[in-house]
Amino acid sequence: MSIAKENPKKSPGHTADDFFMVRNTLIIGLGMIGGSLAKALKENGFSRTVVGFDRSQQAVELGVQMGVIDRGCQDIKSAVTEADLIILAVPVKATAKVLAMLKPYLNAETIVSDVGSTKGSVIAAAVEVFGTVPANFIPAHPIAGSEKSGVQSANSQLFVKHKVIITPHSLASQQATQMIARMWQSTGAEILQMDVKKHDEVLAATSHLPHLLAFSLVDSLAQESESLDIFRYAAGGFRDFTRIAASDPTMWSDVCGANKHAVLQQIEIFSKGLNRLKQAIEADDEQSIKGIFIRARAAREHFGKMLTGTAYAADSQQKNISFFIEPNSVLKGQIKVPGDKSISHRAIIFAALGDGISEINGFLNSEDSMATVQALRDMGVVIEGPHRGQLKVYGVGKDGLCPPSGDLCLGNSGTSMRLLTGLLAAQKFSTVLSGDHSLSSRPMERIAEPLRKMGAEISTSENGGAPIHIKGGQTLQGIDYVMPIASAQVKSSIMLAALYAQGSSSITQPANTRNHTEVLMRTLGIDIEVTDKTVTIQPCGQLPSFTLAIPGDLSSAAFFIVGATICIGSNVVLKGIGVNPTRMGVIHILKLMGAQIVLQNHREINGEAVADIQVEYSTLQGIKIPRQYVSTAIDEFPVIFVAASCALGITKINGLSELRHKESDRIKVMVEGLRALGINIKEQNDGVIIEGGQLQGGIVDSKGDHRTAMAFAIAGLIARGPIEISNCSPVATSFPEFVENSAKAGLRIRKEEANVSS
Ligand code: S3P
Repeated sequence: MSIAKENPKKSPGHTADDFFMVRNTLIIGLGMIGGSLAKALKENGFSRTVVGFDRSQQAVELGVQMGVIDRGCQDIKSAVTEADLIILAVPVKATAKVLAMLKPYLNAETIVSDVGSTKGSVIAAAVEVFGTVPANFIPAHPIAGSEKSGVQSANSQLFVKHKVIITPHSLASQQATQMIARMWQSTGAEILQMDVKKHDEVLAATSHLPHLLAFSLVDSLAQESESLDIFRYAAGGFRDFTRIAASDPTMWSDVCGANKHAVLQQIEIFSKGLNRLKQAIEADDEQSIKGIFIRARAAREHFGKMLTGTAYAADSQQKNISFFIEPNSVLKGQIKVPGDKSISHRAIIFAALGDGISEINGFLNSEDSMATVQALRDMGVVIEGPHRGQLKVYGVGKDGLCPPSGDLCLGNSGTSMRLLTGLLAAQKFSTVLSGDHSLSSRPMERIAEPLRKMGAEISTSENGGAPIHIKGGQTLQGIDYVMPIASAQVKSSIMLAALYAQGSSSITQPANTRNHTEVLMRTLGIDIEVTDKTVTIQPCGQLPSFTLAIPGDLSSAAFFIVGATICIGSNVVLKGIGVNPTRMGVIHILKLMGAQIVLQNHREINGEAVADIQVEYSTLQGIKIPRQYVSTAIDEFPVIFVAASCALGITKINGLSELRHKESDRIKVMVEGLRALGINIKEQNDGVIIEGGQLQGGIVDSKGDHRTAMAFAIAGLIARGPIEISNCSPVATSFPEFVENSAKAGLRIRKEEANVSS
């Protein structure tokens, strides 16, 4: 077969063939898919000629008339011999027959593929005809189509932005696989590879079952005596649901035969689900009915977001958002910050484990906290919301979580992964916790190791990160654990497991870390004792439901606290912010540097200290930051580095090695970024030395870390020139409205989505 050079440039000496990937393509079967592919390959110049073969002479003539194909196949022998590429676009059941027709004339180099929506049967057909699957036979399946059929519906744009699954077998030629991938890419499709079995299982659930349900629903209704009336009054929902019942009956009856096993399995799963709903309706069980609907709606949203790449569960770094900050801004007025991220994770976990309905207000609706929500929904918890920060959680009880049907995808969220690992280590069922690229590279042995000591069976990946595999059904024992590093996530993970253990547990930290788990556990009546740096906790029975108000997140407020401090003329108020002493490091440090921060209207809500914070500009002085504040300001160092860059003199900070294990290596990212903005900054193993100076404009990379991105944006307040910050989409993990809220307060910020080629 002849393949022309890739991306040939027109130049003297090239022949016409150089501009095509393939000389002759033969499409067998001129239905809607075959016709659309032929038309696309002709229009985009992938193939010099496209010849069409169909049992129906009329279809061939129409294909030529409409310009879908160059010509019809007169003689199958010469058409096959001359073809470099043959695509079978026939019902899957006809595959063996068509392959047998081609076999006598096929030359060894010709690449053959198909478009069938089942792949196991296509492979079986190839084996039946050839005795084995030929290396140049590469099955594929475009997930595009419509209820329309026939060559008259051919549309060269049909595959644009649709997925095509290629299912090469173990003996498949690399070159042929690549050629088929390129062919589909040329039509604008997105290519995926999958093994045959997986393809058939996935498609049975996502495509075959919905089609069968639509056919079956319309058929059942049509048999009812008042069917005419039913159809006459059919509303939009009926039309939407049954649109695909207009699809080609032959093709779909073929699919049922070709993917019988997987289809039957899906019908079984669906029947059980429908039966559950039926029983709930019969029993007037409103909570179960609502539960099914809420779970379904949430799952649909979740999948929808995954498909558009906007979900917490999808890799948020896929979208490349950049921030642009113009100089000469001031921050003024009241600024809204979202609910506390740490408390949001804990609140939803305990609400899920409670007996009865809990209500949470001020919940952070961000990708990280929603990752925990989705994981709990995946384990059967009914959660309504968040609507304007309000969540209603139908607790399943301490032992009521159900096995999820797949991996729990936790996106970028370290807190979700570490806290849930502790909880799931104690469940009767096994789980797998996975995360995005950044989360997968973060250390997880720090939780796996103490949990194993308690009797859990946990394995992490080769580099000690996610995915985490947890084997259910283990009996956990209490533990006396001395933590080698100060980490609230590790402490909380063990505390969650300890609730299920036999005997009491004690956890000693090297330094005090945020204590939101302790505060909430105490509020819920769990037997827990805290002395200096040690938490002692007893296993518990049932957990109560509760109502909780979550304060604003001091870690999000910190950006504006620093912003107002460094920017002349600024004066801001942040209302209802959590000022738990174990989070106050940033305030202590800034005050030591000379910041004017006033906490007003102190109150306690659900055991958490809350206040309004008022900040105005003041001159900062460089200092040596006392180590005692490191663990209580752990998330705020990126923006503290910015404050130090604006201070008079030198600021020295050590004891920050944990910063290298956050969503990025925060020491490195901040050093590189601030240096690019003109600051004299020295990187040390566990800290930095920063010489205060004048921030300049420039281009910096947040390296996909929400906190470094927001810290650089704050630097833009007083930089001499504009700052461009790349990789900012993860800001949605903790502060989805950062750009809007800070722009309202006066920061001259805008975001732009860059075009990223996948
Ligand atoms: C968190 C604890 C901190 C912090 C993270 C949230 C928590 O991590 O960095 O953003 O909610 O427990 P470590 O405790 O691992 O330092």
